[in-house]
Amino acid sequence: MSEATGKKAVLKLDGQEIELPIYSGTLGPDVIDVKDVLAAGHFTFDPGFMATAACESKITFIDGNKGILLHRGYPIDQLATKADYLETCYLLLNGELPTPEQKDEFDTKVRNHTMVHDQVSRFFNGFRRDAHPMAVMCGVVGALSAFYHNGLDVEDVNHREITAIRLIAKIPTLAAWTYKYTIGQPFIYPRNDLNYAENFLHMMFATPADRDYKVNPVLAKAMDRIFTLHADHEQNASTSTVRLAGSTGANPYACIAAGIAALWGPAHGGANEAVLTMLDEIGSVENVPEFMEKVKRKEVKLMGFGHRVYKNFDPRAKVMKQTCDEVLAALGINDPQLALAMELERIALSDQYFIERNLYPNVDFYSGIILKAIGIPTEMFTVIFALARTVGWISHWLEMHSSAYKIGRPRQLYTGPSARDINR
Ligand code: SDX
Repeated sequence: MSEATGKKAVLKLDGQEIELPIYSGTLGPDVIDVKDVLAAGHFTFDPGFMATAACESKITFIDGNKGILLHRGYPIDQLATKADYLETCYLLLNGELPTPEQKDEFDTKVRNHTMVHDQVSRFFNGFRRDAHPMAVMCGVVGALSAFYHNGLDVEDVNHREITAIRLIAKIPTLAAWTYKYTIGQPFIYPRNDLNYAENFLHMMFATPADRDYKVNPVLAKAMDRIFTLHADHEQNASTSTVRLAGSTGANPYACIAAGIAALWGPAHGGANEAVLTMLDEIGSVENVPEFMEKVKRKEVKLMGFGHRVYKNFDPRAKVMKQTCDEVLAALGINDPQLALAMELERIALSDQYFIERNLYPNVDFYSGIILKAIGIPTEMFTVIFALARTVGWISHWLEMHSSAYKIGRPRQLYTGPSARDINR
């Protein structure tokens, strides 16, 4: 539990003074425990949870003003360049980076769980081929709850741990099959001789006719880094959704499906797809000034910009931009959309409208350009985000279940009709 500071906030209310305890964490702002406001007949009011700490956590720390993102204390740029995604998964789940032996054991566990029950493949057939891939993912990941429910005891730590392994291992298979289904190609099964990112790209782009398909190591490395950059991000909307669903004791696979649904929105994980759509609509650098005027008239948002927490650069965007330059150079790609994105960033960072609103590129601004270079279609971008964020979601679910927790049940400010009778 966080440390009581001994300090108190004093709330003067209806002539009485209410002392509210203040707690300190390791980093970041102290928190005021407001539950005693209820005893005074009041609720706190914070739509959008702008200033609300909904839980205590040891997993990820963000300093929005300084543009800092730490996973279990390690800066994101170091994890993205000195560790791989499965090491980051191990870190998020267990609190420490794995030793070489622990890494091998974890890697083997994940490899041994990449297959899904053959009946799961039947769920895809209920979707139209042109269904949005995120709609398919909501369905098929939620369907896993039908295969892992009877006998699953969320209070049993061993059941919780195997659930985390199964989800991290199976989500790439389902993501790749979602893509294959929408393009009418047969599913490609996972292989145990490939690493996590290679296996995913192989399932995405290999075909039965091309037995010698080889994954480009440059793309596999970029894919792995993109997974790491999306792995977790504190109490964002989709993670909070998973925690809230999990607080009822719901099936964890169903909780992750709820997280996928929340991530889909364009204000959240759907922004990476919306950035590419926006770049397509702008078309060329010449059209940027007119587009920026539309943004200022609030007719459109500059997708991939702004963040609830970061009021400085999103540290992930910096690494993503570096990766973008590396991948495009390695592939010899001169993507005009990169030049367009950089011009948008240049103008936004020098324009008072964006400066006074602390709007900077976020994780979604450059990711789509790399994903496109890897060959991933725009409508699959948020599926990639969901794949990578599954470890963050399940890490928070595990953390919540590892100690006593209460069902999440916010209240409201009611402004509807007072009690009245039906006069008939
Ligand atoms: C992710 O929470 C997380 O951690 C999420 C995430 C993660 O890893 O889980 O980081 C992933 O979701 C990144 C964000 C991706 N979304 C986008 O790129 C969509 C575009 N951005 C916005 O919609 C917006 O910036 C939000 C939703 C991200 C944040 O919104 P807030 O914190 O509620 O801020 P706001 O809407 O109150 O904006 C403050 C002002 C407003 O102007 P005024 O009313 O003060 O005049 O800034 C403006 C907004 O209109 N504004 C933008 C803008 N974002 C905010 N104006 C133009 N373009 C934008 N993108």
